[in-house]
Amino acid sequence: MNIRWIRIYHLVYIFGESLSLYMDIPQCQVNNRYGIFRGCNLTGIPLVQTDIGILDLGSNYILEINASSFPFLEKLFKLQIDSQKNEKLTIRNHSFRNLPGLIELDLSYNRMLILDSEAFAGLSYLQNLLLYYNNLTGSILENDYFKDLKSLEYLDLSSNAISYLKPNPLFYYLHNFHLLTLKYNHISRICEGDLHSFERKMFTVMDLSNNRLHESGPDVWKSCGKPFRNIQFDTLLLGSNGLNVDSLQSITSALNGTKIMHLKLAHHIMGASFGFHNLKDPDNTTFTALVNSDLQILDISDGSIFSLNPYTFANLSQLLLLNLAENKINRINMYAFHGLNSLLHLNLSNNLLGELYEYTFDGLPNVIHIYLQQNHIGAIRDAAFKQLTKLELLDLQDNAIKQIRFCEQINYVQVMYIGRNRLKAVGQTYVNTTYFDATQNNLENLGELYWLSNIPQIKGIILNQNRLSYCYPFFNISKTNSLIYLDLSENMIQLIWEKGQCLDVFHHLSRLKVLILYGNHFAFIPDGIFNGLSSLKNLNLSHNSLTYISNGIFPLSLEKLDLSNNQLLSPSPELFTSIQSLDITKNNFICDCTLVSFIMWLNETNTTLLGSPNDIYCMFPTNFLYQPLHKLNVDGCDEDLVLLPLRFSLFVFTTLIIAISVTSTIVYNHFRGTCFGLFRRITTSVLGGPKSEGSLEMHQYDAYLCYSKKDFQWVQNSFLENLDSHYCERNRFHLCFEERDFVPGEDHIMNIRQAIWNSRKTICIVSKHFLKDGWCIEAFNCAQSRYFTELKDVLIMVVVGTLSSFQLKRYEPIRAFVQRSQYMKWPEDSQDVDWFLGRLSYKILKEQNVKKQAKVTKIASTLELRAVATVS
Ligand SMILES: *[C@@H]1O[C@H](CO)[C@@H](O)[C@H](O)[C@H]1NC(C)=O
Ligand SMILES: *[C@@H]1O[C@H](CO)[C@@H](O)[C@H](O)[C@H]1NC(C)=O
Ligand SMILES: *[C@@H]1O[C@H](CO)[C@@H](O)[C@H](O)[C@H]1NC(C)=O
Ligand SMILES: *[C@@H]1O[C@H](CO)[C@@H](O)[C@H](O)[C@H]1NC(C)=O
Ligand SMILES: *[C@@H]1O[C@H](CO)[C@@H](O)[C@H](O)[C@H]1NC(C)=O
Ligand SMILES: *[C@@H]1O[C@H](CO)[C@@H](O)[C@H](O)[C@H]1NC(C)=O
Ligand SMILES: *[C@@H]1O[C@H](CO)[C@@H](O)[C@H](O)[C@H]1NC(C)=O
Ligand SMILES: *[C@@H]1O[C@H](CO)[C@@H](O)[C@H](O)[C@H]1NC(C)=O
Ligand SMILES: *[C@@H]1O[C@H](CO)[C@@H](O)[C@H](O)[C@H]1NC(C)=O
Ligand SMILES: *[C@@H]1O[C@H](CO)[C@@H](O)[C@H](O)[C@H]1NC(C)=O
Repeated sequence: MNIRWIRIYHLVYIFGESLSLYMDIPQCQVNNRYGIFRGCNLTGIPLVQTDIGILDLGSNYILEINASSFPFLEKLFKLQIDSQKNEKLTIRNHSFRNLPGLIELDLSYNRMLILDSEAFAGLSYLQNLLLYYNNLTGSILENDYFKDLKSLEYLDLSSNAISYLKPNPLFYYLHNFHLLTLKYNHISRICEGDLHSFERKMFTVMDLSNNRLHESGPDVWKSCGKPFRNIQFDTLLLGSNGLNVDSLQSITSALNGTKIMHLKLAHHIMGASFGFHNLKDPDNTTFTALVNSDLQILDISDGSIFSLNPYTFANLSQLLLLNLAENKINRINMYAFHGLNSLLHLNLSNNLLGELYEYTFDGLPNVIHIYLQQNHIGAIRDAAFKQLTKLELLDLQDNAIKQIRFCEQINYVQVMYIGRNRLKAVGQTYVNTTYFDATQNNLENLGELYWLSNIPQIKGIILNQNRLSYCYPFFNISKTNSLIYLDLSENMIQLIWEKGQCLDVFHHLSRLKVLILYGNHFAFIPDGIFNGLSSLKNLNLSHNSLTYISNGIFPLSLEKLDLSNNQLLSPSPELFTSIQSLDITKNNFICDCTLVSFIMWLNETNTTLLGSPNDIYCMFPTNFLYQPLHKLNVDGCDEDLVLLPLRFSLFVFTTLIIAISVTSTIVYNHFRGTCFGLFRRITTSVLGGPKSEGSLEMHQYDAYLCYSKKDFQWVQNSFLENLDSHYCERNRFHLCFEERDFVPGEDHIMNIRQAIWNSRKTICIVSKHFLKDGWCIEAFNCAQSRYFTELKDVLIMVVVGTLSSFQLKRYEPIRAFVQRSQYMKWPEDSQDVDWFLGRLSYKILKEQNVKKQAKVTKIASTLELRAVATVS
């Protein structure tokens, strides 16, 4: 599938059209000179425009192609007839005579492909011919099928049934031919003369991997002469052929004198392995025959070599790269690498090395990179790398190293990977690297950083996933340090800072550009901790436990900030003004009106917000859990201002309520008792409400129903008809509502006041319309004021429809109410209406006196949340 995808992508690229996705291209038709008829149940060639460029006929039922199959398609350059679903596909003589411009022909995956001798006649521009998985035999190369393919460059014959290699003399004349893939065939031997017609060719790649070259024993190979005489290879692949030391040696003898730049023998069976002795490791004779091959890259990875014998590579003096990865190498004998005078890269990763001695890397005067990761190296002699004066990179990751004294001897190494070892300390070892990576060790003292930062040329230090949890710096960090990149992630630096230790750790890192601190259990950021980081561009504080960040803590130079996966509750947008890209996903935002400035900032900022906007979500209140901030409607949070100045007295009153409730939030916590009396006196005198009536126990009405006029019809059907005795005899309540009981001509606000004071309870039907109606909010306010002046809770709030608590709390009076008592919610299911009305009736009848110590305005968010949760 993948292959197909890539191919199609490639085609799209050729056309340079806006065909962006495979899925977007209509099937079984031609689009933009590109005909896709894959899987269209065709039995013959479809009719197509004559200027078509690419034709894909894969996965159909075509049985035969003959000279009259294709019309003249001059522009066709690529044709796929792969994977036909019949048993066989026959290509008759001159089948492609009408396709003179063909460059690529794909006939792969036709399990029984029958080719007439003139099948490819006339394809003189064909460059790529794909014939893999076609059950072809050696005769495909032996016969003259390809005689007209003068431009042929690439022939793919993998996964066929080819057992011998005797290419036809016509290959002499295919001067452009340089790529031959023969992997997954049955070739067991190649003898002198067999490849005669390949002589004087330079193969970019000849792939003979996954054949059966081991089947002819060494004696057969010895009698076979030099089959590869006069052929040159850029890359010759002989891996996965079951080669042991003896058969490899006979093959290298057969290659004596042949120029090969890259010999790949990966996946071999050479070597004694661990605990076995029946198979030999390569020795001083195995590769000698390659002495004149000018070999530059030798890959003998993925085998069982246990011991590297002396002088094994002695004659490979031109070798630049030696790959010995994924063997079982445990022992490197003295002089093992002797003679590798040109070697630059040595890969010994994934072996069983335990110790490195002074002589281990003897004979590698020019090596620049050594890869030793994933061994079991525990002991390293101090002078192990001493003679490697050109060494630049040393990869020792994933070993068992406990100390790094050997580093003092190699102060020319630039890059040191020593992650996933057992370092407890770097001591005061003189490491002269530019890049020091000690990921996943056991370092505990952040003070090590003070030492490492002072290395004159160090630019990058990586200490992530250690155990940094205390800090005893023995040095100061010099102001001339050149550190640019510092990764301290996944440690326990919170433990250090909460003790007040090393708060100056970053103060002298004036060149630092990247600082990574994720996963350090930070609950706070100490003030001024980032002072001095005047070049810092990128700061990662994700996966901590930060709830709050104070303004001005980040350096002005900062461009990229990651605060994702913290517990930020309500961050101020001012924190991020200079930042160009910000990740603030997965925090614990509290979605109330105080978050509005942040929500608006998110919506309009030029800062690139990383991560999905759906991951910037509320954590409180619970009914907003995981609601993305960008989906919240914040319009109402500032509508309060519009509603307030309805009337001057009302204005004064409401302002006072707001002011008092805000200040009392703070004050009440301290002087709750005394304040309450004072509060009550102030509010009553300002309001000047009808106190006398307030003290009467007898009420004219049971309840005043307050709702938006727009909701009247619904209120009548749902409430009045079920509760008011005038609507139905069995109803027991005498209700008050505007349409019937307000005195015409009377001031509306007076009517509302009268209704509230003459009723035992006030029921506010809070709907969307209610919130938009200034009179309703005013009535709500008024009813609420009885709570303060009379110490009576007369207000019953019924929420109708889907109103989030966020929307409700935009209105200060409603917020105050919600913070102290539960509201009722009109049931969504009509079955529950009776139960709801029962509860409402109970509330109307129940006398709710406020206790003197009532926490009138205390904001107890947990209580409130619980209330909301139980109601909803
Ligand atoms: C091909 O034939 C099969 C079976 O008759 C049918 O399910 C499928 O839809 C056909 N495909 C097209 C592209 O016509
Ligand atoms: C070519 O093949 C088609 C069927 O695909 C057949 O009808 C036609 O007779 C063949 N032409 C020749 C010349 O064989
Ligand atoms: C194809 O062409 C060759 C040589 O011209 C001829 O010998 C052979 O019979 C032809 N095959 C068919 C099936 O016509
Ligand atoms: C492959 O070809 C051989 C003859 O060369 C035949 O015996 C075998 O059945 C073919 N295999 C398939 C899967 O068609
Ligand atoms: C190869 O090694 C063997 C013993 O291991 C030794 O006897 C022989 O002289 C060595 N040959 C060369 C060419 O070094
Ligand atoms: C390689 O061939 C040369 C002659 O071409 C011969 O002298 C030498 O001994 C051969 N080496 C091996 C290892 O076969
Ligand atoms: C191969 O290397 C060994 C050891 O250095 C040396 O004695 C021998 O002469 C070399 N063989 C050739 C053919 O250069
Ligand atoms: C450290 O390395 C630099 C360059 O890699 C080199 O110039 C300098 O001499 C080294 N310092 C010591 C003390 O070896
Ligand atoms: C976001 O901004 C656009 C205009 O830039 C505005 O239309 C939209 O209402 C805003 N959304 C919110 C949630 O503020
Ligand atoms: C965003 O960029 C535009 C154009 O660069 C600019 O006009 C606008 O003021 C910027 N908005 C903010 C919030 O910085």
